[in-house]
Amino acid sequence: MERRFQLKSLNTFSVNAFSKSIVTAHHEHTLLKFWRKAYSKGKPVLILGGGSNILFLENYSGTILLNRIKGIFITENKTEWQLHVGAGEKWDELVVHTIKKNIPGLENLACIPGYVGAAPIQNIGAYGVELSQICEYVDAIDLCSGKKIRFTCSECDFKYRDSIFRNCLEKYAIVSVGLRLRKRWKPILDYHELAHLDKFRITPRQVFNFIYIIRHKKLPDPVLVGNAGSFFKNPIIDIKTARCLFQIYPNMPYYYQKDGRIKLSAGWLIEHCQLKGYVFGEAAIYPKQALVLINRKKIATGTEIAALALYIYNKVADKFNIYLQPEVRLIGNYGEINPKKLFM
Ligand code: FAD
Ligand code: EPU
Repeated sequence: MERRFQLKSLNTFSVNAFSKSIVTAHHEHTLLKFWRKAYSKGKPVLILGGGSNILFLENYSGTILLNRIKGIFITENKTEWQLHVGAGEKWDELVVHTIKKNIPGLENLACIPGYVGAAPIQNIGAYGVELSQICEYVDAIDLCSGKKIRFTCSECDFKYRDSIFRNCLEKYAIVSVGLRLRKRWKPILDYHELAHLDKFRITPRQVFNFIYIIRHKKLPDPVLVGNAGSFFKNPIIDIKTARCLFQIYPNMPYYYQKDGRIKLSAGWLIEHCQLKGYVFGEAAIYPKQALVLINRKKIATGTEIAALALYIYNKVADKFNIYLQPEVRLIGNYGEINPKKLFM
């Protein structure tokens, strides 16, 4: 019988899927070697960090390539610290490391699961800060040519939960990320649950601690309950459509975007379809945050979770005429599945 490898501990949804092989790369040259070896056999390759933004819908017929390239190198000048960080460092450990070294700037992005290499892909963001605000460059290997390319922040074309990497996953392996943190620190307290804090007295460590508490109150711990954070992105709509909705739902929360459009809260839309806490087989909507789907006892299948997501998608579309887009990447037998195939 052919050997197969368990992926349950490699995805935070804790879905019980299998792959043909799993390899771990600690250096750029081994990453490329592993990738080429699998590719030459005509097998698909999926580069993974912590598996905290994916949902396996089926077993994976190829190689899982874990990027564990380490290293945190810090230099400084009069005005800023420059960090060059290996893709295989854990993001939340990086945040703690900088706070301990009295280097502020990452505290709003505390406790986000996953590895540094995945952070630019969807331009991670939380509590008023996005990676794009502190990212100087992203180093990636072009898997076809084997060449390393440095993308400047503007070349990454970061947007809300989006970047140039998001739509060409099989083309690049991110190997390191450059961050630039200003020495003149100003707390970012725009998020409503931080707005009461005293911006003249607060320290980076205190901001970190507040965010730690907020996150642990709202979001399930993947060690206990399978989940991948927000399942859908918050929808961004034009102002005309938004005004029509506000007439019917005057209490609907919204956020102005720089381009004049309006961001709505997908969690609010789902909750107002009366779905908070909704149970679907072994999958469910988290009772404290409707945007988070959970694998309650870690026995749900990927397709069960996807069926729940489709149910939510249809309910929100029927009630608000808004079509949610998944943030989580759907992984099938041969690689990523275009969400349009599922959500139509
Ligand atoms: P993975 O899930 O391993 O990979 C994600 C995608 O990127 C996959 O398609 C993979 O193939 C690809 N990939 C990974 N690494 C590389 C690489 N080095 N090169 C090329 N491709 C690669 N996200 C936020 O933005 N904000 C939040 O506040 C937030 N909160 C969360 C809370 C919880 C409890 C959970 C479970 C998730 C949360 N997330 C949040 C989502 C998730 O943490 C981020 O998307 C994170 O960056 C994913 O990192 P990862 O290493 O686990 O990526
Ligand atoms: N809301 C509800 N009901 C819910 C959930 C939310 O009404 O069940 C409403 C509330 O009005 C709340 C608003 O939605 O004020 C926003 O909710 P919250 O602050 O919890 O944030 P979110 O928009 O649901 C986003 C990110 C999170 C990030 C937080 C904090 C997305 C898709 N999600 O969630 O990121 O941690 O803001 O900044 O943008 C992730 O990407 O995986 C993730 C967890």
